Amino acid sequence: MKSIGNLDIREIANKFGTPLYVYDKSRIVGNYNRLYEAFSKYFEKFKIHYSVKANSNLHILEIMKNLGAGIDCSSPFELKLALLVGFQPEEIVYTGNYESFEDLEFVSQQNVRINLDDITSFWRLKKVSNPEFVSFRVNPGIGKGGFEGITTGGADAKFGVPYELLHQAYLDAKASGATRFGIHIMTGSNILEPYYFAEVLEKLMRIAGRIFKDLQIKPEYIDIGGGFGIPYTDDEIELDIETSARLLAEVFKDFVEKYDLGTPELKIEPGRFLVANAGYLVTKVTAIKNGYKKFIGIDAGMNMLIRPALYGAIHRVKIYGKDGAVQMAQVCGQICENSDILAKNVPLPEVVEGDILVFLDAGAYGFSMASNYNGRPLPAEVLVDGNAAIEIRRRQTFEDYISLINYRKLV
Ligand SMILES: Cc1ncc(COP(=O)(O)O)c(C=O)c1O
Repeated sequence: MKSIGNLDIREIANKFGTPLYVYDKSRIVGNYNRLYEAFSKYFEKFKIHYSVKANSNLHILEIMKNLGAGIDCSSPFELKLALLVGFQPEEIVYTGNYESFEDLEFVSQQNVRINLDDITSFWRLKKVSNPEFVSFRVNPGIGKGGFEGITTGGADAKFGVPYELLHQAYLDAKASGATRFGIHIMTGSNILEPYYFAEVLEKLMRIAGRIFKDLQIKPEYIDIGGGFGIPYTDDEIELDIETSARLLAEVFKDFVEKYDLGTPELKIEPGRFLVANAGYLVTKVTAIKNGYKKFIGIDAGMNMLIRPALYGAIHRVKIYGKDGAVQMAQVCGQICENSDILAKNVPLPEVVEGDILVFLDAGAYGFSMASNYNGRPLPAEVLVDGNAAIEIRRRQTFEDYISLINYRKLV
């Protein structure tokens, strides 16, 4: 591997330093267009809401805006980012969980549509506003994700209104004066199986269709969340997005007709699908240890890419300018945790100190989950746009790191 987009990785690394997140704009645009084309031909009303949590850099949000996307956010700060970039309130949905009064008050003041996590969220919202629009996130009793940590439906999941309580939730909302409605579901992330999306939608429609019909509700939207996966290894098969869209459309149309639900919009909230494979974590080899195993130490760690430590996630590793495999190695960071092994037993070519080592598919839940653990600075982020490499976030300095601390020697 030598380049990202049109640019040479070593030149980018020399210019901006390592460790460094690099995003390829053309990939983001390609991912968005592919998804949009697959769905828009089946749905009369359809909107992609980019999920900010995957990668919240303002420049990435701006790309989404220019593509015509809406936004899905999960916290007041994410919402502020979307507003800062210029998204209009009607283009934004807010899906939080265990929402506080303070969050609900702020979000409701921005006039964005909220997918409430529970009936108790609705009662809290009622105390701070008088919502005309109400949407609940449903837990349909089933869930599936790439890992347990990203499974967001079923009995062990903390998300959503248990479906058995959904009728009461909409009944209460209607009785309290709500006149406009939506519904939301998301049971897991990194799904590669098209039939699973249709299965979940079918369950949702069976649950909600009858409730909406009984309560004479015509939902403005049916929001099926994100979850569209990408292959992180060579063995995984890419999600067939065409088939996913077609299967979802079949279920959607059948049930909308059956329960006479009007013309709701289908909303999706992809994060990973749009940005994961557009992002690379570019690092430098700092040390090579022939211990009980072969360890290749790099200048990035779990503080920068936590997915391997958090879920056992796999990110493919490439060495700049070198191919083939002559050894099995453990690629580790400099953090004082043994979970700071970012790639285990990976086949690699001969590696020497100073080599550039690149993690693939790091554009989603990479930087957005990064921390300062062990006093390591947050890396810079660079966007490759045609022949230009633009620094879209500078590397954190020591001054940035301590800037929020009230300490007598700093004043
Ligand atoms: C409510 C909601 N929407 C969208 C997403 C984005 O998911 P993904 O990156 O799998 O598309 C998430 C991820 O956790 C989520 O919780």
